[in-house]
Amino acid sequence: MISNHEQSFPSPPPSKLVQHVRAARRIAVLTGAGMSAESGVPTFRDARQGMWARFDPAKLATRQAFERDPAGVWSWHQGHRRDIMRATPNAGHLALREMAHLDWIEDLTVITQNIDDLHERARSPNVIHLHGSLFAAQCSSCGKPHPLPDCEATSKSLDVQEGPPKCNCCGQMVRPGVIWFGENLPEREWMDAMSCVEQADLMLVIGTSGRVQPAALLPEAARRLDCVVWVINPDREAMRPADRSWRAPAGHAMPALLRELRVPGCR
Ligand code: OAD
Repeated sequence: MISNHEQSFPSPPPSKLVQHVRAARRIAVLTGAGMSAESGVPTFRDARQGMWARFDPAKLATRQAFERDPAGVWSWHQGHRRDIMRATPNAGHLALREMAHLDWIEDLTVITQNIDDLHERARSPNVIHLHGSLFAAQCSSCGKPHPLPDCEATSKSLDVQEGPPKCNCCGQMVRPGVIWFGENLPEREWMDAMSCVEQADLMLVIGTSGRVQPAALLPEAARRLDCVVWVINPDREAMRPADRSWRAPAGHAMPALLRELRVPGCR
C-alpha cells in the first residue's frame, strides 16, 4: 500500500507542523484510504494492490452496474464489509481520537472518504462520511434505510454470496449505502464538511490521493480561507500542490505527532 517512497521511516514530525497543531483550536481532518492501509484495508489506486487495480469500478461501483448485476455488486460489497469487520483501527486512528481530546482543541472533526467504520471504532468523536458507509444500506427505489445484521454477530457467518435483501417498505432491492461513481455526495454531509472547513484554523489531509471530486476541493477551499493545510502521505505524488507536507505513513505519523504534542512546554 505504501508506494513511491525512497525515504526511510520513521522521520520525526516537522517542527512547523507541531507548532501549527499547538496553535490550532479547530482542526478539520480529511482522510482517505491510506488512513486504513495499516489496518490491512487496501487503498483504491495503489498500482498493484489497490482495489481498482484488481476490480473494475465500472462493474462494481456505479448505479448501472447494480442494475445490471445486483447480486454480484451486493456480494462484492458484503465481502469488503466482512474484510473490514476483521480489521481493527490502527495507531493512526487511535492517535487522531486522542488528538481530539487535547485540552486546547475545541473541535477536531474527521471528514472521511472511507466507507469503513475504523474512525468510529477508534472512537473519534466527530466523523463525517462523505462517501457513505458499508455499514449502511438503503432501498434502491424508495431510499428507506435498511438495517444490516450486527457486525459482531456476522463477522464469521456473513454469507457474501447472498443477493440483496428486499426493502421492508416497498419490496424493491436494497443497495449498499455507499456513494458510487456518478452519484452526488449526501447533501447534509457535504454542508457539514464545508462548514467544518470554514471554521477550521488547521486542516490535516491524511492518506488520500486527492483524485476524487468533490472531496478534493476541500483542501483548496481551506487554503482559499487562509486555513493552514498539511498533507500527510508517504507518496510524493499526493503532496502537490501542498507547500506543507510530511512524507510518512499515517500509522507512524499520527502517534509520533501526538507524542510531540504531549511533551510539556511552550504553547
Ligand atoms: P486512493 O487509493 O486514491 O489513495 C490512497 C492514498 O493513500 C494514496 O495517496 C497513498 O499514497 C496513500 N497511502 C498509502 N498508504 C498510506 C499510509 N500507510 N498512510 C498514509 N497514506 C497512505 O484512495 P482515496 O484518496 O481515499 O470511493 O480515494 C478516494 C475515493 O476513491 C474513495 O473514497 C473511493 C474511491 O473510489 C468510494 O469508496 C465511494
